[in-house]
Amino acid sequence: MEKRILGNNGLDVSALGLGCMGLSFGYGKPTEKKEAIALIRAAFEKGVTFFDTAECYGPFTNEEIVGEALAPFRKEVVIATKFGFQDGDSKKGLDSSPARIKAVVEASLKRLKTDYIDLFYQHRVDPNVPIEEVAGTVKELIQEGKVKHFGLSEAGVETIRRAHIVQPVVALQSEYSLFYREPEKEIIPVLEELGIGFVPFSPLGKGFLTGAINEETKFEASDFRNIVPRFSEENRKANQTLVDLVKSIASEKNAAASQIALAWLLAQKPWIVPIPGTTKLHRLEENIGGAAIHLSKEELNNIDKALKNIEIVGARYPQQLQERVGK
Ligand SMILES: NC(=O)c1ccc[n+]([C@@H]2O[C@H](COP(=O)([O-])OP(=O)(O)OC[C@H]3O[C@@H](n4cnc5c(N)ncnc54)[C@H](OP(=O)(O)O)[C@@H]3O)[C@@H](O)[C@H]2O)c1
Repeated sequence: MEKRILGNNGLDVSALGLGCMGLSFGYGKPTEKKEAIALIRAAFEKGVTFFDTAECYGPFTNEEIVGEALAPFRKEVVIATKFGFQDGDSKKGLDSSPARIKAVVEASLKRLKTDYIDLFYQHRVDPNVPIEEVAGTVKELIQEGKVKHFGLSEAGVETIRRAHIVQPVVALQSEYSLFYREPEKEIIPVLEELGIGFVPFSPLGKGFLTGAINEETKFEASDFRNIVPRFSEENRKANQTLVDLVKSIASEKNAAASQIALAWLLAQKPWIVPIPGTTKLHRLEENIGGAAIHLSKEELNNIDKALKNIEIVGARYPQQLQERVGK
């Protein structure tokens, strides 16, 4: 698979990474450990070298699975994980205090079965801890060799600028896809100016852009999408217009809708590295195929024009979670 570079410091990764969250957290019942490890290893065999996890996925179990899966080829892969919640539990409040960050790094290193974390993201900006203090703490961890690079997730432009002065930010991980294009307004220009890579999460629109979800889909009780306004039954129905567009482009290109969603992201900037997640081998293979699809300037312009006529309805987060983003 094509390689891409994140940030001025040059973190070399496969053009598509693997988002590992859904194997343990967020989308219903966790995948059985053996199967999850096999899926992660299959991704590596197919050319993926960039793996995304967080202490709060599980919590903790996802890092353990990622660590065990990647241990045999640790030096050949880039592992990204995240800190930022009280006790590592995303249902509790935020905690990016220096003491907490230092405790997380030790625990994450153990669970990941490694002595360095390639990319350590702050998961959400903590309004109670100045970002300079957070960046300074990660800088110390970098000097100690425990962390290689610093990242932010869902941070606003001011925070990105302030953090970058203290410790260069290699990547921002935030939601970006055909289903959510807000970062194009302010975020992407700032990343371009500062030379920071962009790692779009939920690049398949949490599965919606693949065409596998419609208004009749029933999610498991513990599935996060049950509380997302954009995924209410009526909004899924209304937003199907977008899926129809993606499907029609896919059929013209003899590709799958998921592949078009990923190829579109890859075509936006050469320093964008999406991290689709799946629990299924055949979908992993399909998604990886998206990296080989080229969308021409004309095709991209046509997509842009068509998108102008599509209104996407429903917020991407319920109110209490919306308050944690864009700070
Ligand atoms: N920083 C943050 O705050 C944050 C937030 C959310 C996610 N993330 C990261 O980003 C990664 C990806 O995001 P995401 O998992 O939310 O969303 P996503 O990658 O957009 O979509 C994942 C969903 O799509 C389904 N899917 C995947 N490939 C498919 C295909 N080819 N055809 C049909 N369905 C397909 C998956 O179901 P199956 O498993 O059934 O295939 C899963 O339900 C996560 O794993 C996590 O590492 C970070």
